[in-house]
Amino acid sequence: MDKYYITTPIYYPSGRFHIGTAYTTVLADTLKKYKKLRGYDTFMLTGLDEHGQKIQDKAKESNLSPQEYVDIQAKAAIDLWRKMDISYNKFIRTTDDYHVKAVQKIFEIFLANGDIYKGEYEGWYCKPCESYFTETQLVDGKCPDCGRDVSKMKEEAYFFNMKKYAQKLLDYYNTHPDFIVPEYTKQEMINNFIKPGLEDLCVTRTSFDWGIKVLSDPKHVIYVWLDALTNYLTALGYLSDDNSLFKKYWPADVHLVGKDIARFHLIYWPIFLMALDLPLPKTIFVHNWFMMKDGKMSKSKGNVIYPEQLIDRYGLDATKYFLLREVPMSQDGLFSPESFVERYNYDLCNDLSNLLNRTVSMINKYFSGKVPSYSGTPNDVDNDIENCSKKVIDDVTNLIDKFEIANALQAIWSYISRTNKYIDETCPWILAKNENDDDFIKLQSCMYHLVANLREIAILIRPFMTITSDNMLNQLGINENISWGSLNDYTLLNDLKVIPKGEPIFMRLKADEEINYIQDLMKK
Ligand code: ME8
Ligand code: MG
Repeated sequence: MDKYYITTPIYYPSGRFHIGTAYTTVLADTLKKYKKLRGYDTFMLTGLDEHGQKIQDKAKESNLSPQEYVDIQAKAAIDLWRKMDISYNKFIRTTDDYHVKAVQKIFEIFLANGDIYKGEYEGWYCKPCESYFTETQLVDGKCPDCGRDVSKMKEEAYFFNMKKYAQKLLDYYNTHPDFIVPEYTKQEMINNFIKPGLEDLCVTRTSFDWGIKVLSDPKHVIYVWLDALTNYLTALGYLSDDNSLFKKYWPADVHLVGKDIARFHLIYWPIFLMALDLPLPKTIFVHNWFMMKDGKMSKSKGNVIYPEQLIDRYGLDATKYFLLREVPMSQDGLFSPESFVERYNYDLCNDLSNLLNRTVSMINKYFSGKVPSYSGTPNDVDNDIENCSKKVIDDVTNLIDKFEIANALQAIWSYISRTNKYIDETCPWILAKNENDDDFIKLQSCMYHLVANLREIAILIRPFMTITSDNMLNQLGINENISWGSLNDYTLLNDLKVIPKGEPIFMRLKADEEINYIQDLMKK
């Protein structure tokens, strides 16, 4: 069985996660569920990045010790992922003992091999980003990544010799076309960082102590990004007594990361792995962001939406559908109350829910709930819908494999629309009135095709919206072991009985009321 190891970034426990932050994890979970349906042996990792000066300061603001602070945050994160049905296999916290020990060993390996050397650091530090910058990298004296204030730093420190690996990294990029998705991100890395010349990276700090200490020189704390990145290895037991997961799952198949942390994953991380003489992950997928009309989500702007707020009112699947449908491959996605309500009413209610509801009630009305078998020779309409069915499976599979998640959903939804149109083309209510054999066969065929398509839709949306998928299958009376491989297996449609009365899976929202409701949430 092929394995599939997928990771999310480990989040900073620096407050409540908004829908933008939740996006990375929802996406990873969706990909994992998809691979699982395809029969892969999957392993998904997520967790928290608990060290660093930023966390130490946050704890202080709340009058807590850093450990108390991160414990509270970890519980909140785990609760949220449970609520969102995130099916991770492991939740790593960088304060976990096995992680701390492995990071210390990794640091000593780097020292012993001469990849890390001692020197003096002088430059600028951005605390929110936990990144160092030289004078020339600053933009108007501020952090080039987030635009916030930076502070001057001068201290004895250890450095990682990045320069030594620059050419090797470039060669790796060039010989592994699937390593970085999308392609333009690779070009950005080459043009903005590698071509101008990599700087050696400062990998220790002495001015605070909430972090992993260097074993051989404990007044130094290991740079939080070196600590954090290695979680992808240590979570599998790398350099611990039991490294069986590591042997089974490394290298990672996919690291998912937001565009703000691309540089750390595409430059430092592969270089650390090269220095450890380990294989590199197969693909690092860099996704775009969720934005609001007035830019980034932030508390101070009063434009933040939290996933629980949407889930509590509209359900988990509607929330996930929106998140996954709205971030295209090459642009940021936009959240607005109007577009949320519109997607709910049009895509989920009009298109999907009505299709299911009409089908279930027609089969009850015309065939007492029993799905007719498909006997006759298909007519043109049936031929066309059958061709669409075959094509949508390939299309959706290819798009997900290319990480084009929003497009995959779009492909599923055009198939839903096509199926709705099929009802209008066949007019089953007229066929049912005409009492002749020919029309009766057409009516049977129509019901059969509708159920076939709905079954297919329920499987295709399953990685994205599991609750809705279950609901649909249940209403259709389908009780099989769901897998991607059985998408084409129409024998599974024999002897089905739909439920006597299907409740709509999505009910139309009163648009104005709900738009106001969401706008109010954003002001809270
Ligand atoms: O960066 N839209 O953690 P983090 C989409 N600890 N994604 C967003 C987003 C938005 N509006 N805002 C944030 C860190 N994200 C490090 C990672 S990994 C070894 C260490 C994404 O909590 C962001 O791009 O700041 C990142 O992928 C994730 O949320 C966690 O961000
Ligand atoms: Mg961040």
